[in-house]
Amino acid sequence: MRIIKAEDYYSMSRMAANIISAQIIMKPKCVLGLATGATPLGIYAQLIEWYKKGDLDFSEVTSINLDEYKGLSGDNTQSYRYFMNSNLFDHININKDRTYVPNGLEQDSEKACREYNEIIIRCGGVDLQLLGLGNNGHIGFNEPGEAFEKETHCVKLTDSTVKANARFFENEDQVPKEAYTMGIKSIMQARKIVIVVNGEEKADIVKEAFLGPVTPKIPASVLQLHNDVTLVGDKKALKYIE
Ligand code: F6R
Repeated sequence: MRIIKAEDYYSMSRMAANIISAQIIMKPKCVLGLATGATPLGIYAQLIEWYKKGDLDFSEVTSINLDEYKGLSGDNTQSYRYFMNSNLFDHININKDRTYVPNGLEQDSEKACREYNEIIIRCGGVDLQLLGLGNNGHIGFNEPGEAFEKETHCVKLTDSTVKANARFFENEDQVPKEAYTMGIKSIMQARKIVIVVNGEEKADIVKEAFLGPVTPKIPASVLQLHNDVTLVGDKKALKYIE
């Protein structure tokens, strides 16, 4: 695992955005695996800036997002489709028909997940997967205890994740309790992984995930077994990492 320790959130975002832009420049027809959440916002802002300057071209890029709340439509401001449109896709020249997010409105979980797995295969797999890290070690919506061998599936969110996500809703009751997520197996099949972390509150889980044993209790710990992972964090989140 490569580790990049950045001075602060801004510089963490620039470093991770640099890796993503290198991927796009080296392979314009690449498939990016993208994440939502607070951590990647600075990366997306940076990518938009470089696009506007004419330094980046997304016209041939495909994106496949990690997850989506079950039951939310893409128009719902809390859906991950809405997040991706408003924080990235609406500001760059990506072809929206090639931006994939699980279909939150599909009530048949098996169908939604099967179709998403087929999309990943049809696109030839993910070249670069961007990940954030949940406070309990989750990646995507793969909560502690999830089997490592799962592809896209429907999950019941843990209380801790519902609580953490409540900041984006009016109250906790409005947070959907289920989500569709790429599984650990799908994530591990990405050719390259970049995981980003910032802030003091992530320091303990970063230590457990990357210095501790590989265990389904800390889903992100499985990344220790991937052969091309870059951990990019600010110095607060990486305070226990040499
Ligand atoms: C988002 C996702 C989640 C987040 C994680 C960290 O698509 O899959 O795993 O990456 O919850 O979220 P933030 O960045 O808000 O701390």
